[in-house]
Amino acid sequence: MIDNRNSRNDWQQFAPENIPSKSSMSQLEQFLDSVSRQLPKKQPLRLLDLGCGNGAISKQLYEKGFSVIGIDINTNAIEAAQESFAVADEGNPHELKFFAGDIASEKGLLTDAQLFDVVIGQLVISIIGNVDDRNNLLRNIFKSLEPDGWLYLSASGISDTINNQYQQLYDADYELTKERYTYFSRNKKGEVLYTTHHFSETELQSLISQAGFNRIEIKCNREVSSRRPDEAAYFYYVTCRKPTSPLSNKQ
Ligand SMILES: C[S@@+](CC[C@H](N)C(=O)[O-])C[C@H]1O[C@@H](n2cnc3c(N)ncnc32)[C@H](O)[C@@H]1O
Repeated sequence: MIDNRNSRNDWQQFAPENIPSKSSMSQLEQFLDSVSRQLPKKQPLRLLDLGCGNGAISKQLYEKGFSVIGIDINTNAIEAAQESFAVADEGNPHELKFFAGDIASEKGLLTDAQLFDVVIGQLVISIIGNVDDRNNLLRNIFKSLEPDGWLYLSASGISDTINNQYQQLYDADYELTKERYTYFSRNKKGEVLYTTHHFSETELQSLISQAGFNRIEIKCNREVSSRRPDEAAYFYYVTCRKPTSPLSNKQ
């Protein structure tokens, strides 16, 4: 059955070692270097890694001096991350912790009580489910950030103009997904793994500004897909800020 897929089930069942990840973190590193330069006196910066998978990226960020909390819906991946990487000394502000949880939950995040300087959602908004889930995700991120806090998102872009395979996938799966540029990512045997949405820049911009963020910057890169290393795809890298106060919520 590939219609009525439940993204949460798809990701809960994924083998942690097979969770797709990007090998290059250069965009994320440049962004974090820039944030750190702007807040030299605030160390360690508190960072929330949403959809952290098996925690490998959270760990690298911790080693760079950030205090990191990683959340993922895949309990096996979170258990692996806790066993391999977690560092939590009582009272030490430089920590690395992991929680299992749904980052697109209507009820908010587990960490609602804590505010973060930076939230990261790498390769997450494209696979989170439907439009409601994307809006919930952004609402949860907004609530989790300090005023003036930063959000970094990477997202898959509509790629039919540079890759005919995507054109075919978008067309073939539209009947079931009922959303343009949403298709099923499959393994080599053709079995459906999860649902992916590819964004236009306008769509991303409007989703993020509607959630209340400002100072939105979107870069588009032509790269290869994490699961299709021989195939061209567009990726968007978004940075934006939570306004200092609701009144400053302007572009
Ligand atoms: C494409 S992977 C990216 C992993 C990691 N961010 C990276 O860049 O290596 C997407 C991750 O999001 C997680 N995920 C999907 N839906 C989720 C949800 N509703 N709540 C929490 N995590 C979710 C998946 O389990 C998976 O680990």
